[in-house]
Amino acid sequence: QSATWIHDRWQELAASRPDVTVEYYDHHITNQPSIILTIPGTTLPSEVVVLGGHQDSTSGSNCSNDRAPGEDDDASGIAALTEVIHVALKLNYHPARTVQFMAYAAEESGLLGSDEIARAYANQHVNVVGVLQLVMTNYKGSSGDIYLINDFTNAAQNTFLGNLVDAYLPGLVRGTTACGYPCSDHASWWSVGYAASFPFESTFSQSNPFIHSPQDTIDKSGGNAQHALKFAKLGAAYMAELAKGGVSN
Ligand code: BES
Repeated sequence: QSATWIHDRWQELAASRPDVTVEYYDHHITNQPSIILTIPGTTLPSEVVVLGGHQDSTSGSNCSNDRAPGEDDDASGIAALTEVIHVALKLNYHPARTVQFMAYAAEESGLLGSDEIARAYANQHVNVVGVLQLVMTNYKGSSGDIYLINDFTNAAQNTFLGNLVDAYLPGLVRGTTACGYPCSDHASWWSVGYAASFPFESTFSQSNPFIHSPQDTIDKSGGNAQHALKFAKLGAAYMAELAKGGVSN
């Protein structure tokens, strides 16, 4: 159901753009498909910029009968990506490089969807120039605004992202933090050699304590998406600066 919902929503946003595709990516390892929206590049179409997050949620290991609303983990990432898509297509954005938005399947089961996609891209020698991961963007657990995860990510691209925060989101306070393990889909790309980054909502230790439970709901984030909006803006800046191109009426 989550896959169908995201597919249909992204398709709706792409309705005015026949060049933009929205496709299910069927997996061997899980029944849940991922979704990929592609904005083809104009002058450098073989160079690909990827922005992604995971579409599944969980309420923990004994979860079969519990609700798993997954507001922060990771509806907040999918919403931020969806807003970047919304704005880009509304402005008739045509990137020089190809931009792909990905809603990964089965992250909570062990990064299954992103692992299969990243390996397939590596096997096909797809020239992915950068990957941005948006997971858990709406719980402001720390005093700062955006924390760059500095393990299983690319140091040079993290510096680039820090510069984007300073240039496009002046006034925001940024920091760094670490997961300590391959905690989300960025690690799938990192492990096959692509440059991946993961801007995060707080320090690792102060992140949303309600994830992976029926309590992962929007009231824990003040009932609004103000924190997630910073990540949508950063995602838009990342896309615009890395894929370049322009907008038109
Ligand atoms: N969003 C979490 C990972 C996370 C949790 C990052 C807290 C930073 C702070 C992610 O969706 C998740 O739950 N990942 C799994 C990964 C595992 C299945 C490989 C996890 O952490 O258990």
